[in-house]
Amino acid sequence: MPSTGARPAGSEDEAAAAQDVRRMFDSIAPRYDLLNHLLSANIDKLWWRRTAQRFYSVVANPDAAILDICCGTGDMTMALLKHRARDARPILAADFSHGMLSRAAQKFARPGQPAAIALEADALHLPLRSDSLDLIVTAFGFRNLANYEAGLREFHRVLKPGGQLGILEFSEPGGLVGKLYAVYFRRILPAIGRTICGQDGPYSYLPASVERFPSPNELLALLHAADYTDCAWQPYTFGIAGLYTATRGEVG
Ligand SMILES: C[S@@+](CC[C@H](N)C(=O)[O-])C[C@H]1O[C@@H](n2cnc3c(N)ncnc32)[C@H](O)[C@@H]1O
Repeated sequence: MPSTGARPAGSEDEAAAAQDVRRMFDSIAPRYDLLNHLLSANIDKLWWRRTAQRFYSVVANPDAAILDICCGTGDMTMALLKHRARDARPILAADFSHGMLSRAAQKFARPGQPAAIALEADALHLPLRSDSLDLIVTAFGFRNLANYEAGLREFHRVLKPGGQLGILEFSEPGGLVGKLYAVYFRRILPAIGRTICGQDGPYSYLPASVERFPSPNELLALLHAADYTDCAWQPYTFGIAGLYTATRGEVG
């Protein structure tokens, strides 16, 4: 099977796709939070909270090494921090868009030891030791990687044996909800995004990238093929979004 990954309109290969994605997020960073909450009617907050709760046992362990990759402006990290003691090891929050990450860093600031460390890094080439993390979480970021298989391999490399992975992503619901949602997602959402953001690309890219993204069964197959165990998908809100969970096997 050929490798899969994001391809914004006009990007011809993986390197160009990654560069276009990074530029796009840099350009929408100042309005990202406003648009995100508006376009999802704040349901995104519920999804981040549910994801954080799902990994409560790891997150509540103050020594656990945790990475929020593709952290954007940091809201997934902030949801994880709600379950973390003040003196716990800081969470690593990484993204390759400087514009998005600098907004995250402002949210993490507090007197004394920071609750989270903002790290400018590419998810496909993490500047982290192998076998070093207990948990990797990514919210609405995985879909944007230029190569999904390479992303899963890199996460596998840095997770400890037995470490956990959570991928929160959009999905395409079926039935009547799916039909109504498709009208909103493909027509209304790009129009609102275009008006507020002043540019067409990012909010046309969003529905196109969800359409291109593997179905839950296909992504579960990619997780199995990348040697993860206990792979599962939990739909959220009629399957508009959902959480993939997987464990890095004890060997390999
Ligand atoms: C839709 S935003 C999600 C942000 C945040 N996690 C949230 O839930 O709001 C996707 C983020 O993924 C980041 N991203 C995409 N590809 C990446 C890569 N290869 N390495 C690091 N970050 C990446 C983008 O810069 C962007 O900030």
